[in-house]
Amino acid sequence: MLIAPSMLSCDFSKMGAETEKMDKAGADWIHLDVMDGHFVPNITFGAPVIKWIRPFTKLPFDVHLMISDPLKYVDDFADAGADYIVFHVECESDIEKTIDKIHSKNIKAGLAVKPKTPAEAVFPYLHKVELALVMTVEPGFGGQSYMAENIEKIAKIKAEAKRLGKDILCQVDGGINDKTIAHAYQGGADVCVAGTAVFKAEDSRKAIDNLKELCK
Ligand code: DX5
Ligand code: ZN
Repeated sequence: MLIAPSMLSCDFSKMGAETEKMDKAGADWIHLDVMDGHFVPNITFGAPVIKWIRPFTKLPFDVHLMISDPLKYVDDFADAGADYIVFHVECESDIEKTIDKIHSKNIKAGLAVKPKTPAEAVFPYLHKVELALVMTVEPGFGGQSYMAENIEKIAKIKAEAKRLGKDILCQVDGGINDKTIAHAYQGGADVCVAGTAVFKAEDSRKAIDNLKELCK
């Protein structure tokens, strides 16, 4: 299991140091939650902040765009150093154009589904993306409870990807902790995002090690 700590739960006054800390603690990716106060009822940070913290680690930057018009900002996030740009199938941008734009910047593209959106919503685009993100909370805030029923979407997405002869990563985001990660793993998750479980732990390294250990 790959673990992607969500910087949404870090101390924003020292985001560079917090990023470095996650690298040293054994994180696989750095998950960056971008919110625009329109697609979700919360505002976080944008591309300039990501650019500032980019030099603090060589780990992949997994940028989760919870914004209404991702197409408009692909250039900015690409230039800021994103390795994955993941956006929502429920957004207002043209989905195919957004995926193509991401790929034109040599970045991997991912599509996310909110809890109320069926897995089938991503099927028309699966042949074009490298990652599918299944949300296990309503996007907008860290620290919410895991909605287990969403995990069923992973098997559906993986079956469709297999049918298309396409290898994609499935990521789970929301409420992942030592009580829930085994369920996501058994459901087929390849990458788990964890904010609260890693940042609020006394020892982030132990927390990440433990999450990985629970997926064996
Ligand atoms: C929610 C974000 C998540 C969130 C995860 O909108 O996409 O990445 O920060 O936080 P936890 O792990 O605390 O649920
Ligand atoms: Zn996220």
